[in-house]
Amino acid sequence: MVERETWATRTGFILAAVGSAVGLGNIWRFPFVTGEGGGAAFLLVYLLFVALVGFPAILVEFVVGRKTERNPVGALIELGGNAWKYVGGIFIVTGFVILSFYSVVAGWFIRYFLEGLRGSYASHLAGYEDAAAEVGEPAALLMFGDLSVGLDAFFFHTIFMAVTIGVVALGIRQGIELAVKVMVPAIVVLLVGMAVWVFTLPEAGAGYEYYLSPEFGVIADNWMELLPAAAGQAFFTLSLGMGVMITYASYLGEDRNLAKDGTAIIGFDTGIAFLTGLVVFPIFFSAGITEPGDGGPGAIFVSMTEAFATIPGGHLIGLLFFGTVAIAALSSAISLLEVVTAYVIDEKGVERWKAALGMGGVIYLLGVPVTYDLIFLDLLDGFADGVLLVFGALMLVILVGWITPKLAVRELEKGIGDLGSLGTAWIWAIRVPILVVLVVTLALGVVEY
Ligand code: PFF
Ligand code: NA
Repeated sequence: MVERETWATRTGFILAAVGSAVGLGNIWRFPFVTGEGGGAAFLLVYLLFVALVGFPAILVEFVVGRKTERNPVGALIELGGNAWKYVGGIFIVTGFVILSFYSVVAGWFIRYFLEGLRGSYASHLAGYEDAAAEVGEPAALLMFGDLSVGLDAFFFHTIFMAVTIGVVALGIRQGIELAVKVMVPAIVVLLVGMAVWVFTLPEAGAGYEYYLSPEFGVIADNWMELLPAAAGQAFFTLSLGMGVMITYASYLGEDRNLAKDGTAIIGFDTGIAFLTGLVVFPIFFSAGITEPGDGGPGAIFVSMTEAFATIPGGHLIGLLFFGTVAIAALSSAISLLEVVTAYVIDEKGVERWKAALGMGGVIYLLGVPVTYDLIFLDLLDGFADGVLLVFGALMLVILVGWITPKLAVRELEKGIGDLGSLGTAWIWAIRVPILVVLVVTLALGVVEY
């Protein structure tokens, strides 16, 4: 057997985890949920969730991965016994499902990026004006309908999965670590650049106001929906509940301070989500779009294209924006495929490149129907993050909080030192409040699905 790989550097591990965390969740959901959910007031609630739920939960995955040096299935068997392989199996299935549609959506971004290279968004929209007038629908919607299904979508889904497979096939140091060392800094630089640029737009102020003006009333009136939404978003955005952080931590090799690394990763993810809002809303408001919508997959393409066709410099900034999102999606997709690949390598003894190609190929095929009909997207999406992710997180919390708490605390203390009552606080946070949050979120997710 080949020796299990490890990250070359601590930065490599952190960037890989950040690369996984930063994705469509930061750029889709976060700004929109915040804008609609009461702005800065919602942001506060969200930050509380991330700190009180996300942080303890990411540590759970880290200790499980580092302790066992295994993929999620192997890790759970080692900690909980053979019956836990079924729970581990759910992680693998979740990875399959999420990645299959994530790739299709990511393909749209590549497509829109390339549209920007071929000509301005205004000129592309102009091509749809006549047809739009005829059916009485926005031109940008027709354009999206054109690009998001059929051969176009199929082609870019193919490209995106091919790149994802290629990176994972190259392994931890030569593939993932190298890739994220380029991609994550690129995402940060591009977003900061765009945020500075859009600051000069005519209606930037109105955008910031919509995004951030604190409305505690919205929370008071809608807390029944907002709180689970904030919890669900906290898990999705940090890539929790499907073994990504278990898998990445399994390559740590030595005992580092996991609390410190977790803080850095969460800080990055939250910072980038926040920054995206500072980019997106000035653009919308300067284009006269004052009801930016819910940020559903279709809606953002439509309103974004309209905005990039309208605002000064929209061509260039649109190109950068779509490109940035594609990069962010790629580093998340890599982590999803790595979970599945690590499972096949560890448990079935298959060589890495064969595992990546085989599993990536099956996931690719599963995504193909989505390129034909978006209805599959809704089905897969709702099931995967509403139900599977939360279920996975819940099982982990039960295992670590109730079955192997001592072992977990000892593992966390490696690289930190004696935690004393902090360790107990961590375990009790997992045992009761976080467990309750997960059960409630899961129940609501099942009902909604
Ligand atoms: N964290 C990613 C995002 O915010 O877009 C989504 C994600 C990636 C969720 C990987 C789960 C996962 F395993
Ligand atoms: Na995220």
